[in-house]
Amino acid sequence: MTRHFLDIHKTDAAELRAMIDAARAMKTARDGRPRGMPDDDQPLAGRMVALIFEKPSTRTRISFDVGVRQMGGQTMVLSGADMQLGHGETIADTARVLSRYVDLIMIRTFEEATLLEMAEHSDVPVINGLTNRTHPCQIMADVMTYEEHRGPIDGKKVVWSGDGNNVFASFAHAAGQFGFDLTFTGPETLDPEPAWFDWCAAKGHPITVERDPDAAVTGADLVVTDTWVSMHDPQSARERRHNQLRPYQVNEALMARAKPDALFMHCLPAHRDDEATSAVMDGPHSVIFDEAENRLHAQKAILRWCLGV
Ligand code: CP
Ligand code: NVA
Repeated sequence: MTRHFLDIHKTDAAELRAMIDAARAMKTARDGRPRGMPDDDQPLAGRMVALIFEKPSTRTRISFDVGVRQMGGQTMVLSGADMQLGHGETIADTARVLSRYVDLIMIRTFEEATLLEMAEHSDVPVINGLTNRTHPCQIMADVMTYEEHRGPIDGKKVVWSGDGNNVFASFAHAAGQFGFDLTFTGPETLDPEPAWFDWCAAKGHPITVERDPDAAVTGADLVVTDTWVSMHDPQSARERRHNQLRPYQVNEALMARAKPDALFMHCLPAHRDDEATSAVMDGPHSVIFDEAENRLHAQKAILRWCLGV
């Protein structure tokens, strides 16, 4: 069966754990060598990977490209707009065609339905590089980053302050799969999807909602936020969102409520001094650039899992 990496809640928890462990081992094995130097193991030798972007990207684009190359594979980075995909060819036909040329497809797109249709009709593994609804590769890197700094994440208190968006959704899935306690603090109008509350509750890790950010962050092991306006949000909503989310900015006063050794995460790109202040982003709790680096290592493990190599 073709192994797609579509979402954290759709992937077996033991396999997710194995991917995190593999990512850490691969990171250690590189032992600080130059980025362009291949890994000792070349599990992707002879493999061709298509990286398709219907939205902008810095981290996802570059970390997948570098990761595939370090493991001996080749990549082609494609813009959805430049393909027939952007001019009316169906997703299903695109998937069938790409399956004749490449060994794996990573796609960043808008609607989740596009990702799912690609996976349904592809004979090769498909990886979710972000949709309007979820961002699983990011949170695999975030779990890896937390554990690198502080040990096992299970049982820890993770607080999300801000918009209940696609990155939050994948944190919710990770809470259920890796066993941490997740609190959401944000305005009711920007609550996460009800489906994620139901899923986490069924997994025995119900999401806590606390409207007061100070109360929410008290005793946190990890504080996380993201942009107030995502790529799929209409620009016309920008001012309203900023007004609603300003009380949930992660600043030094809010971080002071967390445990003294709490970490701060942001998937980036950030709008400095909106959702988080520069003092926090560049401060002692912040691990934002480790998160960015770990995209590379976590995705290498995801690629290997998908290809069974
Ligand atoms: N965090 C993240 O996915 O960044 P990019 O949009 O730059 O890929
Ligand atoms: N929530 C953001 C994440 C970007 C990596 C977005 O979807 O634009």
